[in-house]
Amino acid sequence: MKVDVIAGLQWGDEGKGKIVDLLSSNYDIIARFQGGPNAGHTIIVNGTKYVLHQIPSGMTREGVMNVIGNSVVLDPIILQKEISSLENVGIEVRSRLLVSRRANLILPGHRLLDSIHEKNIDGKVGSTLKGIGPTYQDKTGRFGLRVGDLFSPDFKAKYNRALERHKCILRGFGHEEAIDDKAWLDAAEGLKSLQMVDNEYYINNALKDGKKILAEGAQGTLLDIDFGSYPYVTSSNTISAAVCTGLGISPKKIGKVFGIFKAYATRVGDGPFPTELNDAMGENLRQKGHEFGSTTGRPRRTGWLDLKALEYACMLNGVDELFMMKIDVMNDLDEVKIATSYKGMDGKNAEFAGLAFGENVEAQYSSMPGWKQDLTAIREFNELPETVKNYITYIEKQVNTPISIISVGPERSETIYHNR
Ligand code: GDP
Ligand code: IMO
Ligand code: MG
Repeated sequence: MKVDVIAGLQWGDEGKGKIVDLLSSNYDIIARFQGGPNAGHTIIVNGTKYVLHQIPSGMTREGVMNVIGNSVVLDPIILQKEISSLENVGIEVRSRLLVSRRANLILPGHRLLDSIHEKNIDGKVGSTLKGIGPTYQDKTGRFGLRVGDLFSPDFKAKYNRALERHKCILRGFGHEEAIDDKAWLDAAEGLKSLQMVDNEYYINNALKDGKKILAEGAQGTLLDIDFGSYPYVTSSNTISAAVCTGLGISPKKIGKVFGIFKAYATRVGDGPFPTELNDAMGENLRQKGHEFGSTTGRPRRTGWLDLKALEYACMLNGVDELFMMKIDVMNDLDEVKIATSYKGMDGKNAEFAGLAFGENVEAQYSSMPGWKQDLTAIREFNELPETVKNYITYIEKQVNTPISIISVGPERSETIYHNR
């Protein structure tokens, strides 16, 4: 058995929550392999909405085990709230959630440092302010505290050392106030009652036992710390390769890679966005697609689908099948545009990689007629209007990868399977 992967191919919010929940009926285990509560994964089941930040999106499917992997960064307060809100609606969480002992803890100081960095350092990233960057900095700096440390007899001493370090950095930025950590310490104590796991053994043994496992990514490829438009990125690797280090499996154990993208593009936070629409068309996509952040509520920037970026993301992830989301949102357009190349300021063709070095590019578009039809009730590929089929075929050809799921609404049932 191998681990299949769901990877976001754009700037996050592609609809990973819906798809992981949908596919979880075919899997025994869903495992998050990176990121933290900067993620907001929305699942809608029979009209009930769940927004998960840290808990994998298999939690809404009875019988499925959910693993928070070693490269995830964990905020105990947010996790506690998330568990309570699921338990309040009758979902059995504790017997179905395993937390990696190696996952790094987001400490109260990390959140403060996140907001101070955003205010004091040139080039605001537009972080979700959940403490993600500072926590990963402490991890790679080898200062981090991990979930397993909570059980150590000298946890309090370790915690106090981290607190003092953070206070020292904060003082450097002119912040002298005390860090209020009572709620954090209570929640961290509560975390100890959850089931801990050494996920590297758990996942590899589960594969040996013939279990089916799906790795759930957070954020998206264009926010990857190495390959995104640095520095306007998150602080983890978001691509399929990160499943190996995020769960403790060898590259030989990666199975199918499913790449998920919206039929248009969105980005929340700062940074380059070559196909952005700062006009009525962009506002229309935002309103119709409810493009407001699931974690921060910020309006998402919107634009046309960018095939140059999609091709790049398919290459980096090794995508086997594409899932296209939210095509229903584009139901009232006379014309649909799709970016096929970039032109640099020197007039020559440019690549996505240049965006990370401040290169300004102009997206070059192909244009197609719109479909002006509500697609939400369609369940069969053949019932889609020809114009939509053309849009799909065009994308498949350009990125040389088949589209096997077309999503026409947020509910599980609002899904079309194509050659799958
Ligand atoms: P994620 O972070 O990738 O899980 O995506 P988010 O949950 O942040 O954002 C996706 C949003 O689109 C959520 O509100 C979903 O309920 C919604 N959604 C998912 N698929 C579709 C779709 O095909 N059509 C429409 N209209 N909404 C969708
Ligand atoms: P999901 O999993 C969309 C963006 C932030 C900011 C940048 C860095 O729901 O797709 P961070 O808080 O990580 O330091 O912010 O990354 N960002 C996301 N954008 N969806 C997400 O997650 C995101 N997680 C982080 O807006 O631009
Ligand atoms: Mg999201």
